[in-house]
Amino acid sequence: MSAADFVPPGADLEGLRRAAGGCKGCHLYEDATQTVFSKGPATARVVLVGEQPGDVEDRRGEPFVGPAGKLLDRAIEEAGLDPKDTYTTNAVKHFKFTPAAGGKRRIHATPDAREVAECRPWLVAEFGLLDPEIVVALGATAAKALFGPAFRVTKSRGMLLPWPASAYEPAQFDREDEAARAGAYALATLHPSAVLRSDDREPAFQGLVADLRVAAGALG
Ligand code: URA
Ligand code: SF4
Repeated sequence: MSAADFVPPGADLEGLRRAAGGCKGCHLYEDATQTVFSKGPATARVVLVGEQPGDVEDRRGEPFVGPAGKLLDRAIEEAGLDPKDTYTTNAVKHFKFTPAAGGKRRIHATPDAREVAECRPWLVAEFGLLDPEIVVALGATAAKALFGPAFRVTKSRGMLLPWPASAYEPAQFDREDEAARAGAYALATLHPSAVLRSDDREPAFQGLVADLRVAAGALG
C-alpha cells in the first residue's frame, strides 16, 4: 500500500488536497482525526516541509497551527521571509501518536521510514505543481524524505544545497519547466519542536532564525 493509489493524475493543488482527505495509503489514517495537507499558495517562492501534523493540527486540519507552528511563524518573520510567500507542508499527512497512559492526551510518535515512504507520493505530487526558489526541510524526518535516508541534519544544517528537482519531476513536465527549476536551492534546519524541547531555548531559536536567514538570502 502507498499514497500512490490515491493521487489523482493531473490534479491541481485543490484536487490533491481533496483526494488526500480520503487517503488510506498507510495505517495512520485509522487513528487520526483527518488528513492535514498544506497551506500557502502554489506560487510560493519558499517551501517549508515539516514532519507530520501535531495534536492541534490534527484537530484543526491545518499544518503548523500549534505551538511549533507559532514558533515557526516568529522565526520566519525574524528571518525576513514573507509569510505570504511560503507554502508549508509535511512529509507525513496524518498525526501519528500514542495515547498517554490513562488520559486523553495523545503523545507525538515519530513516523518511521516506511510511513514516510508510503506518504511520499503526496509530497512528489505537490512538488510537481510548486516552483520554489528554496525548499527548507524542518528536522530529520523531512530532510530524509527530501534528500534520502543518509542525510544528516546535524552535519548539514544551514548549508545551501542544490534542490534535487529531477527527483520530483512528474512525467508530464516538459524540458522548459525542468530548466526553470534547475536553479532552486534546498536547506535543512532543525525542527521548531526541537527548539521548544531545548533546555536553552533562545540560542536554539536564534539558530533556526540564522538558518532561515540563509534561505532568505538565497531568494533572487
Ligand atoms: N510539526 C510538524 O512537523 N508539522 C506540523 O504541521 C506541526 C508540527
Ligand atoms: Fe495516506 Fe499519508 Fe495519511 Fe498514510 S499518512 S494514510 S499515506 S495521507
